[in-house]
Amino acid sequence: MKFFVDTANLKEIEEAQSLGILDGVTTNPSLMAKEGITGSKNIINHYKKICEIVTGDVSAEVISTDFDGIVKEGKELVALHEQIVVKVPMISEGIKAIKYFSENGIKTNCTLIFSAGQALLAAKAGATYISPFIGRIDDISSNGIELISEIRMIFDNYNFETEILAASIRGPMHIIDCAKIGADVVTTPLKSIKSLLNHPLTDIGLEKFLNDYKKGNK
Ligand code: E4P
Repeated sequence: MKFFVDTANLKEIEEAQSLGILDGVTTNPSLMAKEGITGSKNIINHYKKICEIVTGDVSAEVISTDFDGIVKEGKELVALHEQIVVKVPMISEGIKAIKYFSENGIKTNCTLIFSAGQALLAAKAGATYISPFIGRIDDISSNGIELISEIRMIFDNYNFETEILAASIRGPMHIIDCAKIGADVVTTPLKSIKSLLNHPLTDIGLEKFLNDYKKGNK
């Protein structure tokens, strides 16, 4: 399973990259705004900085909602860096644009997926990734992980190459559940990845090993 970080914070991206387990980055307009990155020039520069830190795919989201606008923006984004993946919303104009991009060798991430039907359409159009937002589904008292299972089954039935990129991750158990089901990628805040490191028995065990070493080497 690939690990992406879902952030526009350069320090977090650097820290994730330094762990040696990072496969890519996803961003969105809200994450950019959270870092105070506004205005197209600054946003473009920020994408370039992210691409310089990581070696994998970097999702950059379009703002346009019509076919021509999405295609124009997408082409400008991919011209920035070879690692850029065009993030396109799940709307009919977006599906048309994903089809166009896939026919022209441009990688896409279809975002704002909340149903298996949406995932199926995006895969038919040739999306490289689809992003089901599991945390936001849980937030409305439904089951985001079940959606990942449904999509996995559908994609396997037809050998779709589109990768399931589980998004809107709220904690380490979402990552584990996605791994059990076979999501291809999780995009997550860095803190959820770091939570996977922790176990009290590891801390107790390490403390004992180090103390025993000290005793033996007095
Ligand atoms: C995915 O690419 C989105 O950027 C993200 O995962 C949304 O997460 P949120 O529900 O925490 O905003």
